[in-house]
Order: sequence, then structure tokens, then C-alpha cells
Amino acid sequence: MMKKTRIAPSILSADFAKLGEEIRDVEKAGCDQIHVDVMDGHFVPNLTLGPPIIKSLRKITDLVFDVHLMIENPLKYLEEYRKAGADWMTVHVEACENIAETLETIKKLGAKPGISLRPGTPVEKIEPFLKYVELILVMSVEPGFGGQSFQEEQLEKIKYLRPRFNGLISVDGGVTAQNAGSCLRAGADILVAGTAIFAQNDRKAAIQSLRGAP
Ligand code: DX5
Ligand code: ZN
Repeated sequence: MMKKTRIAPSILSADFAKLGEEIRDVEKAGCDQIHVDVMDGHFVPNLTLGPPIIKSLRKITDLVFDVHLMIENPLKYLEEYRKAGADWMTVHVEACENIAETLETIKKLGAKPGISLRPGTPVEKIEPFLKYVELILVMSVEPGFGGQSFQEEQLEKIKYLRPRFNGLISVDGGVTAQNAGSCLRAGADILVAGTAIFAQNDRKAAIQSLRGAP
């Protein structure tokens, strides 16, 4: 069965002074969900946003909040993020003390559990946990910052995972209209894009060119 490609703008590259308007703009432009990058200054050397901002944004859209938790020991905070309005919660295999319990807790909270891995982490590290997740987020840049260059070799992970996993595969980092086609051919269902959407004046054209990438 062919799954529809989903486009997930990463608000990390949006203008934080007008986050609400930015989200409405990409919603109007036809995106499928909102990718929310949460960083704690420990797991990654950057800080972004937390539950209060997600809670405020929850009031302005019904789009899925695809929350990417780049935080140490996420188990402690899952309930808070869920209450704030996270629909999907993706944790890093490198950041969890008890990955199975963490993923089961996400499910119990009624959210979609996802697992992610850094570019340097071998794909085998997540294999034992595929039965707990509905989403795999393959990082194609080092997590922490938007606007980095796509790491082509990460496509191998998508190709390896595709026949082994029935859920959704997402690719995150440096995705552009130029490399979107190779992501989709490798087997990705979801394209996360920050710069390639928010740095463009015409977000509709940006989303369409990601979707229609050759
Ligand atoms: C990086 C984040 C990405 C990033 C994507 O740590 O997980 O979601 O914001 O931004 P671009 O598309 O600019 O690489
Ligand atoms: Zn992300």
C-alpha cells in the first residue's frame, strides 16, 4: 500500500516572535503536521522550548504535534508534554535509561511513540525496540541546530529499516527539494524540514516542491 508523503515543518526555523502566525501560515500552505524540536542543553548543546509554549500553540491548530524530544531521560517529562498537547513523542535511543519503559509510557499516555538516533549511532541499536514504536525518526544531521547540510549516508539506515518496519519513517535534518526525492525513494514517509520551508517566503511552493520532489 502506498502511504502519502507527509510534510512536517520544523518550527525551530520559524520566527519565534510570531510562532502562532508562522504555524497558521504553514497550515494554510498545506503541511501535514508540525515538528516541534525540544532541546535541553544537555543531550544537545542548544535550548529551545518546553511545555508552556506547546500548550499555547495547542490552542491555535488541530494539526498533529510531532514532538522530537532531544532531552536526557525523557521518561520524567513525558506526562507533562502529553498534557501540553504533544500527539507524537519521539525519544532518542542514546538519551534513555530504560528505552522500553519510556516507549511504553508514551503509548499509555495515548500518544504515538517514536524512536530516533543520531547520525553516528548504528541502526542496529534501535532494532530491538521497533516493536514498541510507530515512528522512526532518522536524523540526517547532528541534532541541535537547524540549517545544517544533509548527510547522504544516513539514507542507508532508511533503506535498511524499510523492509523491517511497518510504521512511519521520518527523516530530519537538511532536507531540501534537492534531496527529498532520494529520501522518499529510500522509503521515508515523512519529510521534516525547517530551513527549506520557514526560510522561504512562499511556504506553499516550498511544501509543494518537497512533496513533488523528483
Ligand atoms: C535538528 C532538528 C531538526 C531541524 C531541521 O536538531 O531535529 O528538526 O530543526 O532543520 P533543517 O531542516 O533546517 O535542517
Ligand atoms: Zn527534529
